[in-house]
Amino acid sequence: MKANGIISVLALSATALARPKHGDHLPTTTVAGVEVVDTQIVRDARALIEKFPDYLYWHSMRTWLLGAAVLNANATLKAEVDLEAHALGTILHDLGWDMSPDSPWVTKENRFEVDGGLGAVRWIKAHKSYSPCVWTEARLERIFDGIALHGTFGIHPFKNIDTKWITNSVGFDGVNFTPPEVPIAKFNSVIAEFPKDSFQKGAIETFTWMAATKPNGTYNTFVEPFGTHYVPGYNSTGKHSFDRITAGWNPDKN
Ligand SMILES: *[C@@H]1O[C@H](CO)[C@@H](O)[C@H](O)[C@H]1NC(C)=O
Ligand SMILES: *[C@@H]1O[C@H](CO)[C@@H](O)[C@H](O)[C@H]1NC(C)=O
Ligand SMILES: *[C@@H]1O[C@H](CO)[C@@H](O)[C@H](O)[C@H]1NC(C)=O
Repeated sequence: MKANGIISVLALSATALARPKHGDHLPTTTVAGVEVVDTQIVRDARALIEKFPDYLYWHSMRTWLLGAAVLNANATLKAEVDLEAHALGTILHDLGWDMSPDSPWVTKENRFEVDGGLGAVRWIKAHKSYSPCVWTEARLERIFDGIALHGTFGIHPFKNIDTKWITNSVGFDGVNFTPPEVPIAKFNSVIAEFPKDSFQKGAIETFTWMAATKPNGTYNTFVEPFGTHYVPGYNSTGKHSFDRITAGWNPDKN
């Protein structure tokens, strides 16, 4: 065998080792006209979020389905993405929105995306089918990152493909927004089954509730203006990186 032949065999096996395929031969189903993964753990994740209020359940389902519609439209991309991790990362991405008083997901301190990422990983590890060989730490970290980065601009495009597509998919379901990437027929079938009407109200109420009940998790994030505008007594003065960095600074003297 020539040297470059050996190198390419080594490169191939290294790639195969580094990136086990999770998507091969997974069962599928069709939801709102979109083909999606249909394993037991994905079905159980759907059952979990179905208990949330409609605006949140529907947003989480749209996130998954709109993302899957974009992946399905590109066979190369679809073959590269861990579709089961994408399903769980999108379906579970807003556990941090759970306003029920006894929520097992929401903390007083963390920003809500972190509550969602930690909650999703904890839920997967507690699932009856969980095995560390299937749900490796690397795979779980991709899900955590995909969820944790969904309220922060500019980082996820440079992450691994699974993290990137979980976060991208959340971006397909914004308020007052139609994503150009999603095939329009699929967008319409998803919106028809999981309506968007109550989403703006639900999102504003949820972000306002976060600012009121866990302000430490909202300073310096995109949720902060909801506190400033809608929560009496919310005070972010002194909470900004800017405040600390500029304290004691006198531009005329330095
Ligand atoms: C499909 O996905 C591949 C891999 O990410 C990308 O290189 C290619 O540009 C995509 N094709 C289209 C038509 O978007
Ligand atoms: C917010 O953080 C500050 C400073 O770390 C702490 O003193 C305070 O108790 C926290 N407030 C809440 C509601 O957790
Ligand atoms: C807001 O917090 C800052 C810093 O702690 C404080 O100086 C200021 O008086 C507070 N403003 C109000 C309206 O409470």
